[in-house]
Amino acid sequence: MDREAQAQVGTAGPGPGVRIAAARGAETLDVIRTRGVVRSYTDEPVGDELLDSLLEAMLAAPSASNKQAWAFLAVRAPERVRRLRAFAPGIIGVPPLVLVACVDHARMTGDPHLRDVGSLCVAMAVENFLLAAHAQGLGGCPVSSFLAEPVQLLLGLPGHLEPLLLVPVGRPDQPLQPSPRRAPQEVVRHEYWHPTHPG
Ligand SMILES: Cc1cc2nc3c(=O)[nH]c(=O)nc-3n(C[C@H](O)[C@H](O)[C@H](O)COP(=O)(O)O)c2cc1C
Repeated sequence: MDREAQAQVGTAGPGPGVRIAAARGAETLDVIRTRGVVRSYTDEPVGDELLDSLLEAMLAAPSASNKQAWAFLAVRAPERVRRLRAFAPGIIGVPPLVLVACVDHARMTGDPHLRDVGSLCVAMAVENFLLAAHAQGLGGCPVSSFLAEPVQLLLGLPGHLEPLLLVPVGRPDQPLQPSPRRAPQEVVRHEYWHPTHPG
């Protein structure tokens, strides 16, 4: 920041750029704070443009060693969604879109540590997808309750792609119900676990 800009901040507070960034930050935090699972959907389809925006956010997720050892299948054909649901008791409503999120074992070679973290990377991508959906008035649910083998067969997934989560998404057909959270002081501490730790 040059002297002139510094002087302005000193007298008139933060400039418009800083205020815009702060407003964007508040909006982003609001999206993160207010997300909740959505298990029941209207029959409004998810169009290509909207889907592309979700996929773009999803693929911006971090991944171990930037291997991006993942693969995703977006299923929208109603008959295919219906057949997927037959193997997925975790999908409650009838969604217009199901994302099938897979770990790609073929890209998890080399460092043995990578094998253990593939599912973490997929989970991060799925959370991005869900947050992007929520930001645009959609909702969804990560679903692990499904039979992987029939899903693999149904969708023609090659053996190295293991489906980890199904993610039904659509326009919520009722208001979000916030789920209870454990108290922050129960699950978060600062610096040391025990306050008497010698440090
Ligand atoms: C790894 C994982 C697997 C899940 N599997 C299912 C599932 O099979 N069926 C389901 O209805 N919800 C499933 N959920 C959603 C959770 O039940 C939900 O996130 C939790 O109750 C908290 O609610 P919230 O996301 O609205 O805060 C899963 C969530 C995660 C993170």
